[in-house]
Formats: sequence, structure tokens, C-alpha cells
Amino acid sequence: MHFIAGNWKMNLDRKSALALAAALRERVGQRQDIEIAVFPPFVYIDEIARSLAGSRIMVGGQNCCDEERGAFTGEVSAAMLRDVGAGWVLLGHSERRHLYGESDALIQAKVQRALGTGLRVMLCVGETLAEREARRTEAVIGSQLQAGLRGVAAADMERIALAYEPVWAIGTGVNATTAQASQAHAYLRGVLVGMYPGAVAGRSRILYGGSVKASNAGELLRAGDVNGCLVGGASLEASSFLGIIDGAPRL
Ligand code: PGA
Repeated sequence: MHFIAGNWKMNLDRKSALALAAALRERVGQRQDIEIAVFPPFVYIDEIARSLAGSRIMVGGQNCCDEERGAFTGEVSAAMLRDVGAGWVLLGHSERRHLYGESDALIQAKVQRALGTGLRVMLCVGETLAEREARRTEAVIGSQLQAGLRGVAAADMERIALAYEPVWAIGTGVNATTAQASQAHAYLRGVLVGMYPGAVAGRSRILYGGSVKASNAGELLRAGDVNGCLVGGASLEASSFLGIIDGAPRL
């Protein structure tokens, strides 16, 4: 089953976020063969989760704190996310890694906290343009993956989805080619095979993210080892997000 997720980032306001959720809820019914999630800003999760309750659309946070609770001004805990109806959390997004300096070690601690709290995790990895040009793509995404999954038991891999998001493709309008995406996904799959029993590694979903829109999603979703997509800009309007869902190949 393909997994299509919308990362709203720091966009929308209360009214437009609720309108978007309502439109998705109303029009998403046709495709029972696709898993769908949205990642609203923290402050809207509670209401969005309520408005999507009973629908097939899952809700997640865009980040969480590695600590359980306490004096961490400005942070949001994994338990708080669950408390307001989030089932997922996005961790290791490149904007967190690069704009806010999140290290592999911090991301690993967040993964542990999120899983320990009962959340499902979408763990993002991706290389910068300089790293790709230096032919370090595999080294970079391989070590991000291994570090992020350190300590994650095979049984918990059911609650993990991975997203390959080349930094140079995020928000730029330049998506990876299907060949670039499937090459990276196959490499990540190989890393998983080295870490987990074959069946577990084979079942893990690896989403592609970076300038996905309705016009390129179908092709990307047909690429080898691409099990879904993580959508930023094109998830902010119901028509473009639904266009991606409607255009997804039937498996
Ligand atoms: P984009 O963002 O679709 O706007 O490129 C993707 C992401 O950052 O998850």
C-alpha cells in the first residue's frame, strides 16, 4: 500500500488548516488502497485530529522533544502529541537537521522517545547538493539511517516509515529523477537488510520527498522501491494533495 503524507510545515492558519482537513476528509474516500497522513503545526493538531477522527487520514506532529517532560521551554513532548490525537511524528526532517542543527544523536534520542511513547515515526534522511556532487549520497543517507534507527528493535520497525528527501529537491521545484530516487531507495533498503531480518527490511516503507506534485507523483510512485511520498508545498491545497493521491498507481 502506498503511503502519501502531507507536511504542512509552518504554513496555514487555524481557519485554512481546518478547511483543508475538511476538504481532504470529504474527498479522500475513493482510494482505500492508500495510507494518508497529514502533519499540521503543533497548535492545530488537536482540532485537526478531532476533525479527522473516524476518517482514514492519520495525523502527526512535525517534531517532538527527546526528553519526557520538564523544564524545556518551547518544546513539545511525544506524550503531548499523543494526548492531542497525533499518531505519528516526523523526525530528522532536513529543515530540523540543517536550520536547527539537529544531530544524528539527538534525532536518535527523539526516535526512542517517540516509539517509547507509542507514536509511529517517519524518519527522514537526505543528502545536500554538495554531498551529492561529492558522490557522498550513499554514505550520508546510510549513516543517517543507521544512526536514527540505532536501538530500534525489529518488532518496532512496524511503527517506522522512512522518507528519502534529497535536500536539493525540497521546496526547489527540482524533484529527483525516478532513477535517482530508486537508486537511493534501493541503497536504503540494502542498509535495512543489513540491520534487520529480511522480512522486516522488505516491509519497511520508504517514501520519497522533495518537490512532489500531482504531475510527477505518478511516475515517482512507480519507481522501484518507492512506497509513497512525503509532500510539502503541494499538500497545502486540497486539490493538489488529492491530485497526488488520485494519481497514485493502484497496487
Ligand atoms: P516540498 O517539501 O514538497 O515542498 O519540496 C517536502 C518536504 O520537505 O517534506
